[in-house]
Amino acid sequence: MVQLQVTDQGSGPAILWIHGFPLASEIFRDQLTIAGARHLVPDLPGFGRSRDVAPPETIEGFARVALEVLDARGIDRAVFAGVSMGGYICLAAAAIAPERLTGLILIDTRETADTEQARRGRIETIDKVQATGSTGFVVDAMLPKMVTPTAPLELRERVREIMESATPAGVIAASRAMAARPDSASLLPRLDVPALVVVGETDPITTPEDAKRMAAALPDATLVVLSDAAHLSNMEQTEKFNAAVAEFLTRTR
Ligand code: MLT
Repeated sequence: MVQLQVTDQGSGPAILWIHGFPLASEIFRDQLTIAGARHLVPDLPGFGRSRDVAPPETIEGFARVALEVLDARGIDRAVFAGVSMGGYICLAAAAIAPERLTGLILIDTRETADTEQARRGRIETIDKVQATGSTGFVVDAMLPKMVTPTAPLELRERVREIMESATPAGVIAASRAMAARPDSASLLPRLDVPALVVVGETDPITTPEDAKRMAAALPDATLVVLSDAAHLSNMEQTEKFNAAVAEFLTRTR
């Protein structure tokens, strides 16, 4: 059996970091230094080091995989932190097992389901990956949205490399999963744990409007809008992002 690959680093209360699409655990490399926490960072099936693990085809399925990362280590509760698709997965995990959350960090994500137009786009992506066997066009289309135009070349190249590690099977399964995901708006007011909502000021995929709406709907949320950052605000504004998380963690203990 091929095992899910998980980075498990640090000690203290657990944070489960869930990456976005078509990304990998590597996007959280610079969060592993946040002190006083045990960082659990899986590569989701079909992505990064878990490229050979068969992916589920629903966001709920990905959420169950995420919960199993905790089960496998005997960890009952954790802060759930997700970027974009990772946020969709954290919200699905919160719907399945709210008692397992000590806090929630929603990064450049949204609670709403796909629009019809977004769904059609996902289907086109799936058809094209199936027809060509390649995911390069997804990488080319998404890279300009991931970081701001003035981001250092080294960061841009790192993000490109991470996206290039996604498998066709992973891209197809995750696209299907995202297209079919339910709206989580009614869940937010029921998530009675401290929450941190972070967004890059110029994120063109999940916008500051999305973040403001989620923060307003959550019972106990802090909103942080990071300037000079697009979709991967944790990578582009590492210092400010990590400071916001460190401050937030004091509220979850
Ligand atoms: C992501 O970064 O996970 C994706 O942009 C999410 C999406 O396509 O909805």
